[in-house]
Amino acid sequence: MKILLIGKTGQLGSDLIRNNPGHEISAPGRDELELATNNAIGRFVAEHHPDVVINTAAFHNVPLCETDVEHAFRINCAAVRDLADACRTIGARFVTFSSDYVFGGEKQTPYTEDDRPQPLQMYGISRLAGECAASAAYPQGAVIIRTCGLYGRSGAQSKGGNFVDNRLKDADTLHRLEMGCDQIISPTATADLSRAVWQLLAHPGAGPGVYHLVNAGACSWYEFTTAIYEIAGLNMDVVPVDRVGMSGAMRRPLYSVLANVRARSLGIELPHWRDALVKYLAKNQGSVKDAFR
Ligand SMILES: NC(=O)c1ccc[n+]([C@@H]2O[C@H](COP(=O)([O-])OP(=O)(O)OC[C@H]3O[C@@H](n4cnc5c(N)ncnc54)[C@H](OP(=O)(O)O)[C@@H]3O)[C@@H](O)[C@H]2O)c1
Repeated sequence: MKILLIGKTGQLGSDLIRNNPGHEISAPGRDELELATNNAIGRFVAEHHPDVVINTAAFHNVPLCETDVEHAFRINCAAVRDLADACRTIGARFVTFSSDYVFGGEKQTPYTEDDRPQPLQMYGISRLAGECAASAAYPQGAVIIRTCGLYGRSGAQSKGGNFVDNRLKDADTLHRLEMGCDQIISPTATADLSRAVWQLLAHPGAGPGVYHLVNAGACSWYEFTTAIYEIAGLNMDVVPVDRVGMSGAMRRPLYSVLANVRARSLGIELPHWRDALVKYLAKNQGSVKDAFR
């Protein structure tokens, strides 16, 4: 298949390329396709005429979405709608990503694809708007994948480290660290997510609509952090802090664990988050240390 991939430098985009099962991937950089530029998207997609467009780009700095609402809606909603529209015009499939932050966190059991979204802040609202816009523009061909707590290899080089890399980096300078124990999440390795995305795309039974794809299990950021140090064999006094889901005046969901109900019904399973973390650290702990020295 001919794939047009947006976001090649990102955690997920780079792992989609790394784990490509043999598709012809064309992956423009931001210098070639900037989603904030009006009118660029339709022409770009038409010129490339792919079988599938995969959009991993987003404006996902959650606090910044509160202050730059227009940009949040441009990238997370209007650009997603324009991509869906462009795919419909040429008959390509459209795959785009969304977030656990579409949920309000009131549940105590994993959210399924059928649960009612109830975002608590601008970021989540813009993501939910993007989901609705994609499905409305292209109900027959838009696949929306919600995921959570991503970490992947490209985080180390491009963004000063992902959450895992940054905790390893902390161990060089700190002995004590406070970490939130209030939010319960599904941390997910982009290595596993990328493989699941390719499986989903290849599955003849994978229709349009919303899918959840996260590593199995659930934990708080505090539990995830203690697991990082334990598996990496590093000493750190991690102190649990209950922020009751607040970042300043902004609310975050207290519980946003996702259940991959639709993917599982197609036989697509992701490993437990702890196994994924063990694998990530075995492969990357050394190179992360070198990158930060
Ligand atoms: N990270 C998480 O914890 C998390 C959680 C839930 C959902 N998700 C969603 O999963 C998807 C993949 O996340 P990720 O962590 O792989 O993201 P990422 O590492 O931040 O990568 C985003 C990619 O999109 C590109 N991009 C950003 N804005 C763009 C724009 N305006 N025009 C064109 N390209 C643009 C970036 O290019 P540059 O390198 O040039 O900036 C980068 O290649 C996103 O939809 C994200 O919101 C992520």
